[in-house]
Amino acid sequence: MILEAKDLNYYYQDGESRRYVLKDTSVAFEKGKFYTILGQSGSGKTTLLALLSALDTPQSGTVLFDGKDIKQIGYENYRRNNVGIIFQSYNLIPTFTAVENVLLPMSITENELPEDKKSVAYNLLDYIGIGKSKADRLVNKLSGGEQQRVAIARALATNVELILADEPTGNLDEEMEQEIIEIFKKLAYEHQKCVIVVTHSNEIAQQSDQTFSLKKGSLTPYE
Ligand SMILES: Nc1ncnc2c1ncn2[C@@H]1O[C@H](COP(=O)(O)OP(=O)(O)O)[C@@H](O)[C@H]1O
Ligand SMILES: [Mg+2]
Repeated sequence: MILEAKDLNYYYQDGESRRYVLKDTSVAFEKGKFYTILGQSGSGKTTLLALLSALDTPQSGTVLFDGKDIKQIGYENYRRNNVGIIFQSYNLIPTFTAVENVLLPMSITENELPEDKKSVAYNLLDYIGIGKSKADRLVNKLSGGEQQRVAIARALATNVELILADEPTGNLDEEMEQEIIEIFKKLAYEHQKCVIVVTHSNEIAQQSDQTFSLKKGSLTPYE
């Protein structure tokens, strides 16, 4: 298993009482698979992804990457070196070009990367469907679908095996959505990545290898 969550508890204090978003939640993911986590708005999807990517920490419970507690790895190390995150609203740097956005995490990671980072970034963008001329454009001059492709290339730039995406097609039309889903499938099946997509879309869930349903703070495998 590349990623495991064990007995995660996450709550907000509401006066005297605790309002649990996640309650004793456990789940495990392996490489080479495309997973979806399906849940309604407010069910805790973003919270769960934040804990899995060390953007936030649970009140109790552990997240293991390759069998190691991410607290031991160090949250910052884990974010820099082990996980790629994709957001619904892309979260790119608008005053940077596409290729500059992809280069940024490459300058921060401690992972071993090829000497010529710039050609790696261009090649990665090209592979995801962003050619040279678009790669040199400011990202806010690109369409939504193109910006999300840049965000995927950025998530992959540090050569991670684990990709987490929070409603990555929430701002895209259906055709673009399907193209993005095809990229995720390719990453899982041709490049042996572990891809975990959080979504409220049944159509996306149906295309994944395994779906977990998030309801009332716990995850259950979906049949
Ligand atoms: N700062 C906060 N204080 C109290 N409750 C919060 C806070 N942030 C989020 N929540 C609640 O936590 C729950 C889960 O939120 P979230 O993980 O964003 O759900 P989802 O991504 O599935 O829509 C929601 O009910 C939300 O209202
Ligand atoms: Mg959310």
